[in-house]
Formats: sequence, structure tokens, C-alpha cells
Amino acid sequence: MQVTFYGHACFEVKSMNHSLLFDPFITPNPLAGTVDVSALSPNYILLSHGHEDHVADVVTIQEQSKAKLISNYEVVNWFGKQGIEDGHPMNHGGTYNFDFGRVKMVNAVHSSSMPDGSYGGNPAGFVIEVDQKTFYYSGDTALHMDMKLIGESYDIDFALLPVGDNFTMGVEDALIASDFVGTDKIVALHFDTFPYIKMDHAKAKQMAIDAGKTLIILNIGEKINF
Ligand code: NI
Ligand code: MN
Repeated sequence: MQVTFYGHACFEVKSMNHSLLFDPFITPNPLAGTVDVSALSPNYILLSHGHEDHVADVVTIQEQSKAKLISNYEVVNWFGKQGIEDGHPMNHGGTYNFDFGRVKMVNAVHSSSMPDGSYGGNPAGFVIEVDQKTFYYSGDTALHMDMKLIGESYDIDFALLPVGDNFTMGVEDALIASDFVGTDKIVALHFDTFPYIKMDHAKAKQMAIDAGKTLIILNIGEKINF
């Protein structure tokens, strides 16, 4: 499985036969200027919540790729009004078998509203089983005890977690989160994009090493295989 970072909370996960794109926020992100949005052709777009910094490029990418949108009921509904008819609504605690694998929508502690201010439902994360691997994409969230349930129910291979602090968990809590879900491999998201979430990379990596974990901080456009 190949994971590519497109900045902020946006990742593409390529399985053997499918491509999943998470939380696309590329064209408004000055750090992601090297990413060619027109070249993205995912089969699915998964959205953790409705905030602008997670959905900015959804309509463009969906139009060019005809990807199916997976998110909560309110987010899928809102994009339906923007012309995206191919959506799959879920809600917290629900699991569904897609053609690429199995997705569970799990809790996140954050807020959610759509870019026009309308109701975005509750923010979520996803546990995804694909090609004999299982990973957790937490979305924007605080550290919370429900993450322990994920660790009890799944054998997580790696977790994509926010580390930028201020709006979400910081590094310290992300390290605890990785304990709760039962993995030592953390892929960092939600850092550096805005002044409030600028992060000292060397310090963050050292904190992870001290905790016996690996914090993977990808450059924008960089890929990693799991
Ligand atoms: Ni948010
Ligand atoms: Mn965010």
C-alpha cells in the first residue's frame, strides 16, 4: 500500500486496485503549490468533516475523477447540493464493505460545519481494512478514550494522526493516541499549514523516539509504502 502526502490532512492511499483520497485541501494551501490537482484521479474521496481545510478541492477532484464520496450523512448531503450525486453516507459506529475494503466510521472530538456555515454533522475518523492491512485515519481530533476501543477491536498497522496542536492533538497526545490504538507507526498530519500549527519537526521526531515510536513527517508530494 502506498501513501502519498498532499499537504495538511490530505493523503492518497493506493491499494492494489484502488485509490482513496482523504480530506483534499490543496489549491488554497500555499505549501502545496507543487501538487498537480488535475492529475489526481482517486476512486474514492473520504472526508472526516466539513471544514474548509478538509474539503476545498472536493468538487474539482470529484468532477474529473468521478470518485465516490464517503463521509457522514450531512457532508454527503451538502455535496449532493453542489452536484456530487455519487456519495455514500455513513455515521459513527457504522461499518461498510466497499469494493476496496472495509471502512468503519469512528468518533472524533472536534467540530464540523460546511464552508458556507451550514451544519456538517459530527466530525469523524476512519478505520480502514484494505489489502490485509489496517490503518486509522483519525481526522481532526483531540485525544480521547474511545481510541482504546479501536486498539481492542483492530490490529492497526499505522495511524495517520494530527500533531500540529492548537486545533487538534499535539505530538504528546498523538503519541498517547498511538498507544491507545496499538501502533508505533504514526504518519503526521495537520501541521505547519497555518501559523497556529507550525511545528518543530526535529523536536517532534525526538519526542517520538523517546517514546519508542516512529513519527513519519512526509514532505508534500512524498510517498511511503506500508
Ligand atoms: Ni477541522
Ligand atoms: Mn482542520
